[in-house]
Amino acid sequence: MRNRTPLIAGNWKMYKITPEAVDTARQLVKLVADCSNVDIMIAPVFTALDPVSGVVRGSRVALGAQNLHWEKEGAYTGEISADMLVSAGCQYVIIGHSERRQYFGETDETVNQKIRAAIDAGLIPVFCVGESEADREAGQTFSVLDKQVKMGLDKYFAKDLGTLVIAYEPVWAIGTGKTATKEQAQEVHAYIRSLIDQLFDQALAQSLRILYGGSVKPDNIAALMEMPDIDGALVGGASLDAGSFSKIVKFK
Ligand code: 13P
Repeated sequence: MRNRTPLIAGNWKMYKITPEAVDTARQLVKLVADCSNVDIMIAPVFTALDPVSGVVRGSRVALGAQNLHWEKEGAYTGEISADMLVSAGCQYVIIGHSERRQYFGETDETVNQKIRAAIDAGLIPVFCVGESEADREAGQTFSVLDKQVKMGLDKYFAKDLGTLVIAYEPVWAIGTGKTATKEQAQEVHAYIRSLIDQLFDQALAQSLRILYGGSVKPDNIAALMEMPDIDGALVGGASLDAGSFSKIVKFK
């Protein structure tokens, strides 16, 4: 039996100008007001964080950002630090999303530094990993994940990682409508959990929440959540609409 509180997180990517973000957040807060035993997070664009934080404050919905810089401050034009996210009302931050790795030069090394910055500022890191279609076809899924997890968490100790969330997002399932089957996802989640056990300890492996991401929709969430090592979802497209996202939150 899973004793980890599920987390359903919405990654809004580069969608929604501020009034749209505020409006969707308002609708969501109402729709999930009666939910319990599930943590809920939305990650709007940076410019909408502060206004959306005013909407979600005191509600069931927590706020997250989609990226951060690892330094506390400095001459880094265009970047945003962990403390800045905290002051905008964030509790979570997504780190190492495959779109950042693919288009913006994110590496396992920068991911590692960003996780440190998030933890030091008291933010919950949602550390994303996942193989490409070519990796999977070449039978490299586990070796790719192994490297991402080991390098992303290099030089950490179990005591640092008590709040860590890992999101497994197979790149071939993102925005494609091709969800991993629940068995495929479970196999990888169990692998990641065993890797955490091996690298750190059993207590961390057992308490760590591992989310699945990639074309999660209201009609496939329940099946995914039946699996013992799937502790929630990181949702893209279906999180943009408060109605569909709230259905995912209420997967039971
Ligand atoms: P989709 O749910 O649109 O496939 O996106 C998944 C994702 O990338 C969430 O971070």
